[in-house]
Amino acid sequence: MKILGIDIGGSGIKGGIVNTKTGKLVSQKIRFETPSPSSPKRVIKKIKKNIIKELDWNKYVGCGFPGIVNKNKILSAANVSNKWVGVNVSKRISRKTGCESFVLNDADAAGLAEMKYGSGKNKKGTVLMITVGTGLGTSIFIDGKLIPNIEFGHLKMYGDCAEKYASNSVRKQLDLSMNDWCSRFNEYIKYVEDLISPDLIIFGGGISKYFNEYDSLLKSRSKILPAKLENDAGIIGAALYTSLSLE
Ligand code: BGC
Repeated sequence: MKILGIDIGGSGIKGGIVNTKTGKLVSQKIRFETPSPSSPKRVIKKIKKNIIKELDWNKYVGCGFPGIVNKNKILSAANVSNKWVGVNVSKRISRKTGCESFVLNDADAAGLAEMKYGSGKNKKGTVLMITVGTGLGTSIFIDGKLIPNIEFGHLKMYGDCAEKYASNSVRKQLDLSMNDWCSRFNEYIKYVEDLISPDLIIFGGGISKYFNEYDSLLKSRSKILPAKLENDAGIIGAALYTSLSLE
């Protein structure tokens, strides 16, 4: 089945048509900067113009969102406008674009894709996916089953959220060396490992592309693998979630 996957992020919005049988993108990938302010109105308008119209799409859409999502409704929005809270994104997208859609947390989407087509394929036990970007997104799978909306990026570290200490945007803002950033990230991993003892950690987000340049600096009890689908995992997982929701 072909489904348009969209990944709404704090810095960028990406989309592409996915073949959910193979987990591969079958169109160009479109990316644009998240508008500021990132209100639902502005974001959905841009998605319609830059992705849906551009790809001439009128069928199902899957959408990953950077916050807690329950039955297509947004319950938190840390790195995008607070105006999203309470919005039923699925209804809003259908109303504005005519496309039926299903919405889930962005890290849950990335995790679903990695578990089906990527580094988590056939992996049993506890698998933790961490997407390292503007925030820290997390998803947990127990014997392949997703526990939705795990917000471990918001665990407290040094009086604030962990993602304010160890995300990729913090690395850029503070111009941290890879060594310094990895030692922050290692503290974060230790914290999470003390809570859930994963068998495998999948490291995703934009910087997973360069994983072999710094993986020797990462320390963990569990095995860490880079996301095989790199930064496309969110788009692919959103499309996959939609095809599963339609079954
Ligand atoms: C949000 C999560 C999201 C993560 C990555 C966090 O601030 O609370 O829901 O998965 O950022 O986008």
